[in-house]
Amino acid sequence: MSDRTPAPKKLYIKTYGCQMNVYDSERMAEALGGNGYVETKSPEDADMILLNTCHIREKAAEKVYSELGRMKALKIDKPDLKFGVTGCVAQAEGEEIMRRQPIVDLVVGPQSYHRLPAMDDAVQAGKKALDTDFPDDDKFDTLKRRSKAKRGPTAFLTVQEGCDKFCAFCVVPYTRGSEVSRPADRIIREAQELVETGVREITLLGQNVNAYHGHDGGLAGLIWALDKVDGLERIRFTTSHPNDMDDALIEAHGTCSKLMPYLHLPVQAGSDKILKAMNRKHTAESYIRVIERIRAARPDILLSGDFIVGFPGETDQDFEDTLSLIREVHYGQAYSFKYSTRPGTPAAEKPQLPEDVMNERLQRLQGLLREQQVQTQESMVGREVSVLFEKAGREAGQMIGKSEYLHAVFAEAPLDSIGKVRKVRITRSETNSLAGNLSKSPQF
Ligand code: 5AD
Ligand code: SF4
Repeated sequence: MSDRTPAPKKLYIKTYGCQMNVYDSERMAEALGGNGYVETKSPEDADMILLNTCHIREKAAEKVYSELGRMKALKIDKPDLKFGVTGCVAQAEGEEIMRRQPIVDLVVGPQSYHRLPAMDDAVQAGKKALDTDFPDDDKFDTLKRRSKAKRGPTAFLTVQEGCDKFCAFCVVPYTRGSEVSRPADRIIREAQELVETGVREITLLGQNVNAYHGHDGGLAGLIWALDKVDGLERIRFTTSHPNDMDDALIEAHGTCSKLMPYLHLPVQAGSDKILKAMNRKHTAESYIRVIERIRAARPDILLSGDFIVGFPGETDQDFEDTLSLIREVHYGQAYSFKYSTRPGTPAAEKPQLPEDVMNERLQRLQGLLREQQVQTQESMVGREVSVLFEKAGREAGQMIGKSEYLHAVFAEAPLDSIGKVRKVRITRSETNSLAGNLSKSPQF
């Protein structure tokens, strides 16, 4: 390097919350690459620290302020270190963040990441930069193309953002705005770019991904278009709303071999009274009918869900109804949360349930979900699954990958298995993973 070449500036991004934030963080790093930044894994080395935040529950937002409080000390040795807050807390709180934590130089909401390079210029010139607009220009259009650097075999690809459903507890329609779908041709191009850098499995992301309308055939149309991308072996999508599981998408689960047999379909609660109060616009019964149709198309599909306990007005009976729904559906895995009041959402006005009631219900619900997860994992023992290997494990010779059902699977396999799909006979179920042996026929 010549004396005059400036050393690259280092960027550290800490990502909170959902997979969409993981995707956004990658795109932000790529955008700031044009300003001379390279990513670092250590905040101590960084010239710029971005916290890409989540606002979905109260605790998620509070974590950001505690982290800023801790990281403030880094400025003692490095006074030029810059701090930025991005993501949904940035969108929801805007300028308030800089007031509460003056070390923050930059606040940018999820719709304006393409403006980050210009905002960085302003920050480097000693200014503060704030952008929480919902601009007309599409950030994905303006963001740079995907980096050509070699990647791991799996990637996220955001195809849809925002939500028009307005569930009574949820901040997403306010922080991410109304539903926007990216045009299919851009997504297909991005998928091809990802495949060229080593990606074999793509998870399509959207807050309401199955409401995707950037293709005439909806999400199913997009999936079939991606099915034709050479070198792409697996497609997944998340997160879906039960009301948007249309016939074509259900059918694709039975007929599209690249579409993996795993579906995250949140229901939140099993009582119709609570579902109505949540403004979910479906009943427990209609959810179960959708599940039946999906299972008819793809009998071995592994189902996942989200549950909220302690929504305002939830009685013991309402909670029992949620447990009954869980027993009827039988989930392979699921996420569950205590209801968390989000200012500005309709449910925030309602009287809250006592904390101990919520704690007790969450424990019971998680106990039941755990039982179902263990049963599902144990039912895999003796079965042959197909595993896309992602990386080496901790033990010598051991590799880790994901089965078609999204189970983490450990097996002894050669290093060159990374990026390849291999058949594995499952021998053991562990806490959150499966172990197995490579089958004799190495590839299919
Ligand atoms: N309180 C608790 N959980 C929530 N979720 C969304 N908003 C809230 C809230 N206010 C959960 C829902 C959703 C998941 C992403 O987060 O279950 O599906
Ligand atoms: Fe939030 Fe999902 Fe409901 Fe949209 S559908 S408001 S993202 S919980």
